[in-house]
Amino acid sequence: MLFHEVLIIGGGLAGLRAAIEVAEMGRDVAVVSKIHPMRSHSGEAQGGINASLANVEKGKEDSKEKHWYDTVKGSDFLADQDASEILTAQAPEVIFEMEHWGCPFSRTPEGKIAQRPFGGAGLPRTCYAADKTGLYLLQTVWEQNIKHNVKVYEEWVVLGLATEDGKCCGVVSMDFLSGELIAIGANAVIFATGGIGRIYANTTNAITNTGLAISIPYWVGVPLKDMEFIQFHPTSLARTHILMTEGCRGEGGYLRNKDGERFMSRYVSEKVMELGPRDIVARSIQTEINEGRGFPDGTVHLDLTHLGAKKILERLPGIRDICMNFIGIDPIYEPIPITPGMHYIMGGIETDKDGQTPMEGFLAAGECACISTHGANRLGGNSLLETVVFGERAGKKAGEYVKDKDKKTKTKALEDALKREQDTIEKFRKGGGEENPYKIKDELAKLMVKRFGLFRQEKDMKTGLEEIRKLKERFKKIRPVFGGKVFNLDLLSFYEIKANLDAAEAEAVSAIARKETRGSHYRTDFNKRDDENWLKHTLATYTPEGPKLSYKPVTITKFQPEVRKY
Ligand code: FUM
Repeated sequence: MLFHEVLIIGGGLAGLRAAIEVAEMGRDVAVVSKIHPMRSHSGEAQGGINASLANVEKGKEDSKEKHWYDTVKGSDFLADQDASEILTAQAPEVIFEMEHWGCPFSRTPEGKIAQRPFGGAGLPRTCYAADKTGLYLLQTVWEQNIKHNVKVYEEWVVLGLATEDGKCCGVVSMDFLSGELIAIGANAVIFATGGIGRIYANTTNAITNTGLAISIPYWVGVPLKDMEFIQFHPTSLARTHILMTEGCRGEGGYLRNKDGERFMSRYVSEKVMELGPRDIVARSIQTEINEGRGFPDGTVHLDLTHLGAKKILERLPGIRDICMNFIGIDPIYEPIPITPGMHYIMGGIETDKDGQTPMEGFLAAGECACISTHGANRLGGNSLLETVVFGERAGKKAGEYVKDKDKKTKTKALEDALKREQDTIEKFRKGGGEENPYKIKDELAKLMVKRFGLFRQEKDMKTGLEEIRKLKERFKKIRPVFGGKVFNLDLLSFYEIKANLDAAEAEAVSAIARKETRGSHYRTDFNKRDDENWLKHTLATYTPEGPKLSYKPVTITKFQPEVRKY
């Protein structure tokens, strides 16, 4: 049995940033990652990271307060304002920290960190490194992990938590290479496992982003918060759903329908156009398509052709490569066919502002956590920011928590957890029927697009919930799992599909219950925001019969809810 004072699950930006913090506090820390950290989905983030630096024209200076207000307004007033204040107040500091650690941000002609406009922000606030910002930030924190000799269990996957007296005391993990199950004791565990995009068929997320990591704590009593709020990125590449960064519009790209019209003026003011917040721009695109103004392949165009080769090659080289390699068009000369694609979940594991979940010894940070900084709709560029700000805070909190604890493995609790996972695997291996689990996975992903997409209504969502529950029944009769040990991805998939079904059910039940429209949760049958009844967070707690819902208030410290206009 292994032991570390602090164990971090997930080798993306939030996890690696947390690890630096714990290591700097002199505590023993390790990271478990199912892929090499440099392959984490954080590396796919393209357009940038927000901070109110003082780089803009005189008279139009940005401020922490403006960033805070834009974030709260973007959230449709569901963000906890103390959490979003921390996010926006710490932003300049973390950008300079990344710069000093060597992140090669793009520069203005005077040599300052360059910033581009993003949606829902009044000013150019998004710091970027061409269109590969996530990759460069990830490399930067990875180098710091190497410097601090952080131990990484690479290609290990966590399958369950170990608990004693209601406290987390470690995890059960599988080493892909040997197929062995290994218990790892820890005085604090931080989940920094990213999003769950793959429960949808039309996602920008990597295949690693499944419902497993949020379901593991959910199965042992940690609630999932605000699961009904799913972000659809306005521009994902036709057919593939690969992200076409908001940076394309930030650099001046247009959205056009089949008549060549820049249609955004129908939905937001002429001043805002393509740079509205994501929920509104995504719905506008979908409305054009639904009302017959899209192209026959169900897309509209993201047009960069007027930007010129120089700008595209300098600021959007990755976008050009993706378009050329995946659909054979060169955006210097041709517009890019796009549709909205599921991109991010605002909800996730319930935590406070330090990443502490309701379970002692268990913390979460990054997209898997719901710290409530984004409320009902996240602004582009605030996600990379969240990973580093709240990764650092979770690391600090965990480092302090373990300071006075015995460095001792809770052997009995870990053995019990190990036995529980061995039994689960044994059951999978024997199997109980003929159902193909991958068919269940695909059917789920398709129904989530159809029933829980950009426009929602009760009848459809209830049908969707019934469909999810039927799939859960069918999952009980899946065919046996491949019995080999080495790199048994089949076994991992079984865990992931089971988890996807439960995460989808938590989303469905939360979404049906919320009878209003707010941010990304747009209901055609309740198409107004209802602060009187619904200015509150949803908590979904696992029961074998389905999620049980409860609610908690939103923290409002400064900005009173107002009509959200752009
Ligand atoms: O459009 C993008 O580059 C994505 C950014 C984000 O999700 O924050």
